[in-house]
Amino acid sequence: VDLAGFNTLAVPARAAYFVEVTTLDELQEALAFSRQRNKAPVVLGGGSNVVLTGDIDGLVVRLALRGVECSERGDERLVTAAAGENWHELVCYCIAQGYYGLENLIAIPGSVGAAPIQNIGAYGVELSKVLESVTGWDCEQSQLRTLSAEQCQLSYRDSIFKHELKDLFIITSVCLRLSAIAHPEVSYPALRAELSDPEQVSPQQIAEHVAAIRAAKLPDYRREPNAGSFFKNPLISAEKATELLGQYPGLAHWPMSNGQVKLAAAWLVDQSGWKGRREGGVGIHPKQAIVVVNYDACSGRDILGFAARIQADVLRKYGVTLDIEPRVY
Ligand code: EPU
Repeated sequence: VDLAGFNTLAVPARAAYFVEVTTLDELQEALAFSRQRNKAPVVLGGGSNVVLTGDIDGLVVRLALRGVECSERGDERLVTAAAGENWHELVCYCIAQGYYGLENLIAIPGSVGAAPIQNIGAYGVELSKVLESVTGWDCEQSQLRTLSAEQCQLSYRDSIFKHELKDLFIITSVCLRLSAIAHPEVSYPALRAELSDPEQVSPQQIAEHVAAIRAAKLPDYRREPNAGSFFKNPLISAEKATELLGQYPGLAHWPMSNGQVKLAAAWLVDQSGWKGRREGGVGIHPKQAIVVVNYDACSGRDILGFAARIQADVLRKYGVTLDIEPRVY
């Protein structure tokens, strides 16, 4: 099976075996098939956060479990969505129902099941703020298991699913704790700047503004294949930040509650001269320096080679390591 249509970077790669699963039984069958071949399957949701560096000689499982259920607990609205639901559609559905808390996370590509893995976050809200629990198939215990939000160990673009549970836990549904009462989050500068009256804004208006900001600078993967932010915003020590700020007063940075300082990877890439630059069929988007675009169906290796040259420049100039956000297979 050609995987180009199943990853938003449109990297051409082939899978020896491919199955789309819509039920838990089908997922178990797929896992049994992989076990017989002694190969962990590659599980894909929307394919919007992966770099495929070659053909996959085992099984690729596309999670297509569907369904959304809601329950009430006082003013809280608990929304349980299956992993294969589309994230953006879920956000729109919740806003339409009057279940609030997801509006800043509108228009993020990908599936619901992928959201906790990297603790998706944008415009002042991270999934961690609304996550109640995550249910999935525990491959070691061969049973379904529910983890509380705390057990998921969410932090900036990180979770237990990238570490202890990597390849051992297949998320099948996500439970979100939303609210029937609007609590607008308007602290993110780029969002706040768009609002005429930040104190009087409705969740619908926040969603509209965020969608507009995203549309203005993040390329649509259907026309310009990309995986969203290709680099994570680096976290550095306060000392290192003071040193850098002495040298580069314009450095885009945010102090974190734990004393570390988060830098804008986009600023570092931009200031290193890479914004809008293209080498062969791979380039940095002209409007968002954090986004790598695969203009010409290049391979995952070409993309990583391009990224490595940027990482080397940023390290040389600023002494800061830029980590890659998507998962590399
Ligand atoms: N900047 C530049 N050059 C650019 C773009 C930005 O210098 O080309 C500087 C600006 O100073 C700006 C700062 O970088 O103030 C931050 O830029 P932006 O608000 O666009 O956000 P970001 O840090 O680049 C992060 C997330 C995005 C998320 C936005 C908004 C990561 C890795 N990325 O990007 O998430 O949408 O904030 O909250 O944390 C994603 O993960 O795929 C993603 C798109």
